[in-house]
Amino acid sequence: MQPGFQEKPTIRLLRHGEAVPYGLLLLADPSREMIDSYLPLSETRVALLGDRPVGVYVLMPLGKEAAEIKNIAVDPMHQGKGLGKLLLADATEAAKKSGFKTLAIGTANTSVGQLCLYQKQGFELDSINKGFYLRHYPAPLFENGMQCKHLLMLVKQL
Ligand code: ACO
Repeated sequence: MQPGFQEKPTIRLLRHGEAVPYGLLLLADPSREMIDSYLPLSETRVALLGDRPVGVYVLMPLGKEAAEIKNIAVDPMHQGKGLGKLLLADATEAAKKSGFKTLAIGTANTSVGQLCLYQKQGFELDSINKGFYLRHYPAPLFENGMQCKHLLMLVKQL
């Protein structure tokens, strides 16, 4: 298993009626309203240590051939231990099994570490939605000392 984990996290679908791990989801997307707009259209998978959610990702179909990871997050106590990579690998397998041909993921122009992680996991820059964060979030967002302005979309061929 990855260094830093004594016990391997289990990744599985969030069951009907189970508590939605908003604490984790809000790490990746500060808008609860946005989260609630894509959750009903998506499959949510959680990574559990025992029965405690320590990671999450949300996979939304964009059509017959394409899906998008709308949200991915790891508990700050467990970041940097390889769980993000495991979640991306799990999402890739889940999307392949569902017959999708491409898997997309979007992130901010300011999310330097995430951009490294996604490219290392086979996602390639596909397009830029200029001004996305200025249009869709009421308050300015800052990260790494820069303002989040643009949404960078990366795509992986499955
Ligand atoms: N430069 C180079 N590489 C970097 C950098 C950087 N600045 N930052 C991270 N990385 C690389 C690491 O080197 C590592 O790769 P390596 O093992 O090959 O060296 C990898 O990124 C990190 O891998 P993990 O440990 O698997 O990642 P982690 O478990 O920390 O999960 C995640 C990553 C999900 C982004 C986590 O940090 C997190 O939850 N962040 C807060 C929420 C967030 O920003 N989510 C993504 C928003 S976009 C969206 O949801 C679609």
